[in-house]
Amino acid sequence: MGKRFKLKIEKLVYGGRGLGRLNGRAVFVPFTAPGDIVLVEEKSRKSGYSEAEVVKILERSRERVEPLCPYFGKCGGCDWQHVKYEKQVEYKRAILEENLQKIGKIKKPNIDEVIPSPSPWHYRNRAQIKVKNGKVGFFAKNSHQVVDIDRCPLLKEDIAEIFPRLKELLTLLPSEPSEFHVYSSGKDEVLLKIVFQGRFKRFEIPVEKLKEVLKVNLVGYGIYRQSNGFPERVRFFGKDFSYEFTEKFKFRVSADSFFQVNRFQLENLINRVSKVAMEHQYMLAGDLYCGVGTLTIPVGRYVHRAFGIEANFSAVSDALYNKDINGLRNVSFYCRETEEGLPILKEHNPDLVIVDPPRSGLNEKIIKTIANLSRLKKVVYVSCNPSTLARDIATFHRYGINMERAKVIDMFPQTFHVETIAYLRKVK
Ligand SMILES: C[S@@+](CC[C@H](N)C(=O)[O-])C[C@H]1O[C@@H](n2cnc3c(N)ncnc32)[C@H](O)[C@@H]1O
Repeated sequence: MGKRFKLKIEKLVYGGRGLGRLNGRAVFVPFTAPGDIVLVEEKSRKSGYSEAEVVKILERSRERVEPLCPYFGKCGGCDWQHVKYEKQVEYKRAILEENLQKIGKIKKPNIDEVIPSPSPWHYRNRAQIKVKNGKVGFFAKNSHQVVDIDRCPLLKEDIAEIFPRLKELLTLLPSEPSEFHVYSSGKDEVLLKIVFQGRFKRFEIPVEKLKEVLKVNLVGYGIYRQSNGFPERVRFFGKDFSYEFTEKFKFRVSADSFFQVNRFQLENLINRVSKVAMEHQYMLAGDLYCGVGTLTIPVGRYVHRAFGIEANFSAVSDALYNKDINGLRNVSFYCRETEEGLPILKEHNPDLVIVDPPRSGLNEKIIKTIANLSRLKKVVYVSCNPSTLARDIATFHRYGINMERAKVIDMFPQTFHVETIAYLRKVK
């Protein structure tokens, strides 16, 4: 048994845990809230900090609420259901500010807006559901054990209770898959990917039969094989795409393309990014990691020309289709890894650059190429990881591009994940 001691929780940190101090030493405790006084047991001691778990809550923080989900604390999907939603977004702002100060080396970062999700529940349009030994759900925190669940309040209502029905589907399959990927679009059309690990027996079940079992508006499903960590398509039955909408735009999204997960924040994200192009007369916009053209197409409305670069072939073919259905003739797309696409970026020489990379962020070569564009005026950086964002902002700064302001747009309520829109300007 580890050492037990009393601790007051001061704040929530990136990764989701609460932070308290014992004689100045940092102690991280999951599922706590600032203001809690807790009896904890030390689970591990590292150089400079300890990790501990709650034995008993001695005094409850006023920031606590009753978690909505019976699996909260066991299922690894959520971190902060026990914290009032308005406080969750405040802590995300503080996490961003701290990262920008400590890693980004900005003394007083200007975070000019925090945009809470219009609904903190039922916002997710997709999920990667894990399967193991008949259990269907999500991994427990920091583990590969599947927590068997029957519903998830983060998912869109039509797919929130799909778990027992996926279990029923298991009885129709020749062997157990490792994952189900479920996506329900803005048209309430559902696409399903059944992902197998290693060898498996081929099968074919009519889409109508699966629809009956799953009790959702299933329009198509695919069989996938996990290869190098990515699901590779073996065969698809029925329709393999659907549509997302905003007030002004329509996007085709295929089963294998990325799309923003929070359906309530899509319009806000598009508006906050394209407002920059609307308010300034930029000539040419380059959008790196452009997906299906979610930002390229709206920005394309306000500039002379726009182009997107994206590695995923499925997303690029959606993007090409999307520019047509939105009636834009001044937008083009290239299917390239960003690094391979740098010569295209240099050749176009845009004055506005948008980047929305995966969690790992950018690298020095990409940043240097952007910074050296002779016409560059502005960079809009959309990020889902405040520490790589802050690291990249420090690198941009070394190349004469400074952050003017940033916004937190909460894409992931009930979790610690922080989405940011940062606005950078060339100073020399
Ligand atoms: C966070 S998403 C952003 C997509 C788009 N901006 C949107 O809002 O829908 C990141 C995108 O980068 C793409 N991607 C990942 N690694 C890439 C790379 N090395 N080069 C180019 N694109 C990449 C992914 O396929 C994905 O579409």
